[in-house]
This record gives sequence, structure tokens and C-alpha cells, in this order.
Amino acid sequence: MGDRDDLATLLDEQAAFYRAVAPEYDDHALPFPGGAELARALDAFRPTGSVLELACGPGTWTPQLLRHATDVTAVDASAEMLRIASSRVSSSYATSPHAVSSRPGSSGADSPHGSSPRADSFHGSSPRADSFHGSSPRADSPHGSSPGADSFHGGRAPLRFLQADLFTWRPDRRYDVVFFGFWLSHVPAERFPAFWSLVDDCLQPDGRVCFVDDWHRTDEELIEGEESPIVQRRLTDGTAYRIVKIPHRPAELERQLQRLGWSIQVHPTSGPFYWGSGTRTR
Ligand SMILES: C[S@@+](CC[C@H](N)C(=O)[O-])C[C@H]1O[C@@H](n2cnc3c(N)ncnc32)[C@H](O)[C@@H]1O
Repeated sequence: MGDRDDLATLLDEQAAFYRAVAPEYDDHALPFPGGAELARALDAFRPTGSVLELACGPGTWTPQLLRHATDVTAVDASAEMLRIASSRVSSSYATSPHAVSSRPGSSGADSPHGSSPRADSFHGSSPRADSFHGSSPRADSPHGSSPGADSFHGGRAPLRFLQADLFTWRPDRRYDVVFFGFWLSHVPAERFPAFWSLVDDCLQPDGRVCFVDDWHRTDEELIEGEESPIVQRRLTDGTAYRIVKIPHRPAELERQLQRLGWSIQVHPTSGPFYWGSGTRTR
């Protein structure tokens, strides 16, 4: 990639894409098998204790994390995504006697994003949003959320949303688990070590990390060729944005992480997805 300014511009454009795509994010879900394996892997990993979710988006994974965690902090750059995440988490507890309402101004339980995603369902046909409907929130565990507010106790595990740029954000505390879904592939190579240093700073000494992602890129989005990390994504109205999409492969990703001091096993699924979990080496 070019110089520092070019990279900063690209990362701004990437963040702008996700702000703009937020209302239609679920329409772009990857229509491939293997996604349900990610949800099962996350359950098997058991994200217990204090959990930090990076790039939480519209709350694809947040309800599933809340089923295991004692508290969750979910960070994303997009206020639009955080509002949808708030609505999704609230609606996932809507049938609970302890259910809470989204804050005024959030998209509400009747929005298309207010429904609970199922672990085995895939929607849409356009493989552009790098996610699938992978979490399976339970309606019997009350939680609440309020993006923009510092924290919220909706019943059991407290949930706090933070709006922040992960390329500059510093944590204010440490966590037992750091999780990120469909984020690592959007971290450019130049920022890869710094990102893992951030993960390190976020973790307790014996903390664990877990991530899920995919390596899928279509021919039409490879506007700069196969070797480039830059792809073009479009909104439904055709507006185009450049974003980073690194097609990590499990074995090489494991080696890269090992060189940075991590012991992380990365597993492929039956589709273009993969998941990884582990700890620091030392
Ligand atoms: C592919 S989505 C993943 C969302 C969710 N984790 C999932 O699995 O569906 C990437 C997310 O990263 C967020 N994002 C993009 N740039 C960011 C940045 N610089 N700092 C924090 N979040 C960012 C976007 O707003 C978007 O929600």
C-alpha cells in the first residue's frame, strides 16, 4: 500500500462504508455453508468472564457473548452500527420478563435488525458484508444496552457500548476474553502488529482471544487485482467504497501470529470462513 496518508484515507473510507451499509448490513451476508460452525466454535470456546468485543457491528455476536460472559464491552467506530446492536440485543430479550427498551432514537425492535439471528440461517446473496447471521441469542437471559451511554445493567451481564476508532483507541481496563468477528480481515498488514499489540493490552495476563472471519473476495470487487489488499464494496444503491480485505489462510495466519508471540490455532470451516482461538505464547 502507498504512504501513510493513503492508508489513513483508505481506513476512513472503510469506516465510512460500514457507517453507510449499517441499515442493509444483513442483506449482504455471505450465502455460504460453514457459518454455523463459527457459532458452535464460539460456544465451545466459552467466552466467560469479562469480555471485550472489537468491531461489534450490528451486534451479530453480542447476544451470544452475553450468554457466557459476566460482562461485555462492545466497541465499534460506527454509531449507526451501535444503534442497531443496541436494538438487536434488546429485542433478543424482548420476551423476557426482565426485558428492557432500546433508548429513544434507536431503531427499535420492529426494525429489520431487531430480530434474533439464527445460528444456522444465511440471508442475502451478495457476499459483501463479511458476515453471516451467526449468533443465536436466547430470550431467557435479560440484557440491555445503550450505545453512547457508558454502561447498562439490563438484568444479568452488564453491557457497555463504546464508539471508538480501533486504530487509535486504548483500553481503560483489561479483559478475560477479547473477541472479534469479521474484523481481522479488514486490518491492513501495516497495522497488523499494532492491532495485536492492542489485543495484548486489552487482555488479563491469562486472557484468551477468539475470532471468526472469512477469506472470500469476489472477482468483481478485486479492482486492484488479486495481490492487492484493497477491494471495492458497493451499497445496494451502487455507491462504491474501497475497503481492506485480506484473505488470510489459517496455516499462514497461525505462523504470523506465532511470530508476534501468540499461540493461536486457526481452523477452517466447510465454507470460506475460519475461526481462531488461543493465548499469548509467553
Ligand atoms: C465486517 S463488520 C463486522 C461486524 C460484526 N463483528 C460481525 O461479525 O458482523 C466490520 C465492523 O468494523 C467496524 N469498523 C470499521 N472501521 C473501524 C475502526 N477503524 N474502528 C472500529 N470499528 C471499525 C465497522 O463499523 C463494522 O461494524
